[in-house]
Amino acid sequence: MKKIGILTSGGDCPGINATIRGVCKTAINHYGMEVTGIHSGFLGLLENDFEELTDASMSGLLNRGGTILGTSREKPFKKNASPEQQERRQLILDNIEKMQLDAIVCIGGNGTQKSAAKLAGIGIPVVSIPKTIDNDVWGTDLTFGFDTAVTIATDAIDRLHSTASSHKRVMVIEVMGHKAGWIALYSGMAGGGDVILLPEIPYNIQNIRDAIIERINKGRTYSIIVVAEGIPTDGVKRAGEYMAQMIEYETGIETRETVLGYIQRGGSPTPFDRNLATRMGGHATELIAQGNFNRMVAMKGNDIISVPLEEIAGRLKTVPADHDLVVQGRRMGICFG
Ligand code: F6P
Repeated sequence: MKKIGILTSGGDCPGINATIRGVCKTAINHYGMEVTGIHSGFLGLLENDFEELTDASMSGLLNRGGTILGTSREKPFKKNASPEQQERRQLILDNIEKMQLDAIVCIGGNGTQKSAAKLAGIGIPVVSIPKTIDNDVWGTDLTFGFDTAVTIATDAIDRLHSTASSHKRVMVIEVMGHKAGWIALYSGMAGGGDVILLPEIPYNIQNIRDAIIERINKGRTYSIIVVAEGIPTDGVKRAGEYMAQMIEYETGIETRETVLGYIQRGGSPTPFDRNLATRMGGHATELIAQGNFNRMVAMKGNDIISVPLEEIAGRLKTVPADHDLVVQGRRMGICFG
């Protein structure tokens, strides 16, 4: 009888509970395992804070946002090997022994993958599942949470067209994505953005001004500007505010900004994310049953595979400048800065 622990770490997103459900129901019903839910990410390992999870406790999770286990950005393994660090490592090992865990499933983004690799490094069997709205985890084509964030952002962009048109304004919307531009690219193209600014593609404010003026000269009296939060600014203002002020100054056109923020991380996951989360949860449990540890579950094309954790830790997946959506967008006259 194997007993596995699950922890959820880093920024929350829709689909985490569907993943927990996928792991639990597969482990209990197919492999006859027991499951322990560790609270607040890696903090729960340090504080021995956990609960037993059952098939019954999975009810209602598939479409529920957030994470029933709670999360934190606790990074249990700092760089230095100070005595305090050694104590923390030993505390984690002791608590895992107390919980009688045979393996741990770590659900999280880049920071979590790094911590999971370090947990493996002190001898704990680990399988990780990539989770983030940013879609910036190396080694997987997609992370669950991304499709839901793009859906939310696209709906917001759709709504900006009518108010921009009514007021003949330029509307700037800032979307999340940390240092990557995946949400901005996918929602910008799906929402009909006229200018889409990504951290990966340098921009020149004169090019943006020219693109807006050109639209006006063609009778398009409003423009929609989609900016990723990670684009370069003056280092003081948020991307959306900075870009709106720059555009109004350069063009003389009334410009307003919307920062979409945490709405992109809230509420129920899309059906796509529910099924991706379910598949990844099931495959993570299969890896544990096979004794195939220290790997991250990943999506490649339409398949779910796994990759060695050490290949992932510390890497970031950013938007390639020749991504097909960028190439097609440029050909259609969309300005990428
Ligand atoms: O990683 C997900 C994310 O929402 C990023 O897009 C964003 O920059 C960051 O988390 C915000 O972090 P926090 O939730 O700690 O404010």
